[in-house]
Amino acid sequence: MELEGKKVLVRVDYNVPIKNGMVEDDTRLRATIPTINYLLEKNCKIILMSHLGRPKDLLKEGKSFEEAKKELTLRPVAEDLSEILGIDVGFVGDCINVDMPNDNDVVLLENLRFYEEEEKNDMEFAKKLSLNGDIYANDAFGASHREHASVSTITKFLPSCAGFLVEKEVKELSKLLNPEKPFAAIVAGAKADKIGALKALAKKADKILIAGVLANTFLKAKGIDIGASKFDEETFSAAKEIISLAGDKLKFPVDYVVADKFDNNASTQTVAADNIPKEWMALDIGPETIESYKDELKDAKTVFWAGPLGVFEMENFSHGTREIGEFLGSLNAVKIVGGGDTGAAINTFNLADKMTHVSTGGGASLEFIEKEGRLPALVALERAYKKAKEE
Ligand code: 3PG
Ligand code: MG
Repeated sequence: MELEGKKVLVRVDYNVPIKNGMVEDDTRLRATIPTINYLLEKNCKIILMSHLGRPKDLLKEGKSFEEAKKELTLRPVAEDLSEILGIDVGFVGDCINVDMPNDNDVVLLENLRFYEEEEKNDMEFAKKLSLNGDIYANDAFGASHREHASVSTITKFLPSCAGFLVEKEVKELSKLLNPEKPFAAIVAGAKADKIGALKALAKKADKILIAGVLANTFLKAKGIDIGASKFDEETFSAAKEIISLAGDKLKFPVDYVVADKFDNNASTQTVAADNIPKEWMALDIGPETIESYKDELKDAKTVFWAGPLGVFEMENFSHGTREIGEFLGSLNAVKIVGGGDTGAAINTFNLADKMTHVSTGGGASLEFIEKEGRLPALVALERAYKKAKEE
């Protein structure tokens, strides 16, 4: 791309946790600095755009649009980014029809999802967004599994390219598509979006170690009483199919740390997986499972880790995640970690340096495997490249 002096509209994924108006985890901000610095060196004006949260869900909860806007404004992110970059990042209170401040080299536009057209991948909206720049760059790997206006249709209206973060994510996650064997996956966590990835892993992986809410769901599908443990309806319906696809590649916990309530100060006991007392809930894997999972992992040449193995945010239920994480750190293998909660666990236990790659994408990294790398936003970029070459 001819970049010198251009206005570059960069889609980033600054969908970060914000508490009391402060950014709690700035990993996703820092991950975009190489692209921003490169563009600054080329004397570009950089217009950043992102989504934050799901305003639509707040409206469903009965909040007004004004309340949703207050809660999900990107303004605190601009402040945090100013600190990281050491220059003043301008904040613009809208993402279309805006007057750009003249005195900022870097500006951040307001939350794209304040327009419902964004998630509808609306053509007119994408066109309006495109008026903010001369060139478009996608550096929002974490949102590239979405078919939304700012990552998909916008590529029809501007010369388009990938940023350095997207390039790096694709390069690293591609190691999972033709993995060096044995290939082990750890699929755990509280979120319920893992069915597609599990089906893909059933073919690719040699072993799939299950934990978290997912494990409870599988145990329940096998007819084992899981007491008051959480499980996921959707995965429950798909569990039998996954079990028949993956067979004995699937490994399940043999014991659990259970609690009488969802609280770090709950009463706890360690029980066999088929012996969870009524009204108790599994919140971590037990010591026997930790040992057997280490044994399953020890010869792996490639490991993919998606999802904490217990409620790692609570000290008393963090052992499984910490011990397996530390063990992974010590392995001489390609170790790729999915983003989201797993990335947060990696930060909590200071393990980032010991991994080959920690993705900034949660859902996106799972879908990357499921779709063999063909995420909607990446496909859109590819199409734009091809078209530009033809012209
Ligand atoms: C994420 O954090 O998973 C990405 O930013 C995408 O957000 P979404 O799941 O609300 O589309
Ligand atoms: Mg998500």
